Amino acid sequence: MALPTATGATHRPEITLRFSHVVAEETPKGLAANRFKVLVEQRSGGRIGVQVYPNAQLYGDHDEMQALQLGAVDLVAPSLSKFGRIGLPEFEMFDLPFLFDDLNAVRRITLGPLGQKLLQGLSRQGLVGLGFFDNGFKQMSANRPLLEPGDFAGLRMRVQASRVIAAQMRALGARPVTLAFSETRRALAAGVVDGTENPVSNFWTQAMHEVQSDLSLTEHGYLGYAVVTNQRFWQHLQADDRALINQALQESLAFANQIADTQNDQALLALRQAGTTRIHSLSAAQRRRMHQAVKPVQQQLARWIGERWMGDLKLALRKV
Ligand code: SIN
Repeated sequence: MALPTATGATHRPEITLRFSHVVAEETPKGLAANRFKVLVEQRSGGRIGVQVYPNAQLYGDHDEMQALQLGAVDLVAPSLSKFGRIGLPEFEMFDLPFLFDDLNAVRRITLGPLGQKLLQGLSRQGLVGLGFFDNGFKQMSANRPLLEPGDFAGLRMRVQASRVIAAQMRALGARPVTLAFSETRRALAAGVVDGTENPVSNFWTQAMHEVQSDLSLTEHGYLGYAVVTNQRFWQHLQADDRALINQALQESLAFANQIADTQNDQALLALRQAGTTRIHSLSAAQRRRMHQAVKPVQQQLARWIGERWMGDLKLALRKV
């Protein structure tokens, strides 16, 4: 695409980065991707362009990582739950229910040595990890309140492709059904699945409130992302361009972290105003019982990723 220059003329960028993601533009990830585009194009004087493809327009959960490895796109930002299936199950540690008390606890991983080690592991797949960022804490939805483990009995719950999230749903008595994000709303509307989990910004921007009568504010797990690029593409860039792109990206990720909470709060407000969905808060005792029910998932994760990663996690959080 031709970009306007300072004089109003247009010229083609020398390099165009294709950034594909699966969520709406008004989410923390969508807004961060758009900010990244503005920063890169401004700072490079239009020499480097960024084409953002939101809403799984180009690639969805099933093929975006492969598209990146093949060089069909240059940047993706999958949720951390989606790295297990490309041979990096250690990323699923972020999916452990009730692991993080707050976002500061998340930072102890993402900004510390464990975060670096996780990102470095991406080289095993020919990828480079450029950084982490938040969406926030997940809530549970269905056509009934989900306040106690017993409330999940028999429900088919849509999950991301994460063994840990699937195990969490089983521990609660539900049947996990793995579906791409872009297919979730339709599956809920058609009754193929009964419920799902996500931060409110994703729930709202996919209009899931039109097809789910109840949202329970469980805050039971974290949803975050890693931005990844292809090693060949990254190494091929001039060092100055790499630095410019990386700087713009780090600023965009910091921006996403700043706005993630507000985006989720605004989405919750909009949801309340829409009046289509009953919103339930859990008592401390209800949350404790839910936490108790999913405790065995930790041992399952240890079996899948090994004691060394679990030890790193414990050290980073000084708990678990
Ligand atoms: C995303 O936020 O990228 C999608 C999360 C999901 O698949 O539930």
